[in-house]
Amino acid sequence: MQATGSALWDIPTRVFHWLIVCCVPLAWWSAETENYEAHQWIGYTVITLVVTRIAWGFFGSQHSRFRDFVVGPGGILAYLRGQGSVSVGHNPLGGWSVLALLSLLLLQAVSGLFNSDDVLFSGPLYYAAESGFRDAMGVVHEVAFNVLLGLVCLHILAVLYYQLARGENLLGAMIRGSSEGRQGLSAPVPWWRALVLLAVFALALWWGLEQAPQPAPVIW
Ligand code: HEM
Ligand code: HEM
Repeated sequence: MQATGSALWDIPTRVFHWLIVCCVPLAWWSAETENYEAHQWIGYTVITLVVTRIAWGFFGSQHSRFRDFVVGPGGILAYLRGQGSVSVGHNPLGGWSVLALLSLLLLQAVSGLFNSDDVLFSGPLYYAAESGFRDAMGVVHEVAFNVLLGLVCLHILAVLYYQLARGENLLGAMIRGSSEGRQGLSAPVPWWRALVLLAVFALALWWGLEQAPQPAPVIW
């Protein structure tokens, strides 16, 4: 497919990516140091970013849309047989890894809302759920992080493989928008639309969590 020279990854897609790359280690570090005040805010940021990215998969620029890069088993097999990719953006395997990463990030952060350290901190939905569900979410929060780490390692190894062994400058495109041989086929949609979506989702999350039941007051 011939590219025309537009950005392959629009500004919101790139900003989303590098913010997520900052948030995940920060979330891990804040949990390790038991700074749950910071941990929860990083988690809310992740939820808002991921939900915005998912919406951007429908309303964003051509190559950020899911329909541009999510293909069925036939497309994956064709790619594995060396018949190339239908998208100039994520290849068929990369497309599914994007879906897996986004789902896991969301599962990780949403399960945290029901979590508690059993001492001083409880997530905002802790008192909204039955204890069985909370326990399950506690396990999910722990297990999902390990799966996420595994997937992130695979993701970085895959990027390095394409970058170093196959000479495709994936990293340059994720930083600058495009790179040699990695350019978009159409002009990006205005970036501020992503900001509107982000603001709407942040407000919806804030409002939703405000409605959550609080612990019953302790009467001495
Ligand atoms: C916490 C760690 C990371 C997570 C959760 C993550 C997640 C993702 C996601 C969800 C995408 C899809 C972007 C989109 O379409 O919105 C992506 C793409 C990409 N990521 Fe990461 N990423 C991580 C770390 C890194 C690191 C450290 C690098 C640099 C080595 C990197 C390089 C890239 C590149 C180059 C792409 C574009 C791939 C392509 O052209 O198909 N990522 N990443
Ligand atoms: C992507 C976002 C998040 C990541 C990567 C993350 C990661 C982690 C990790 C690695 C731990 C330590 C392992 C464990 O005990 O489960 C942890 C614990 C915890 N997280 Fe998160 N978390 C995220 C979001 C959240 C959110 C949004 C909340 C609540 C508002 C939350 C609440 C907690 C709590 C209460 C613990 C302590 C659990 C315990 O002591 O057993 N997390 N998180």
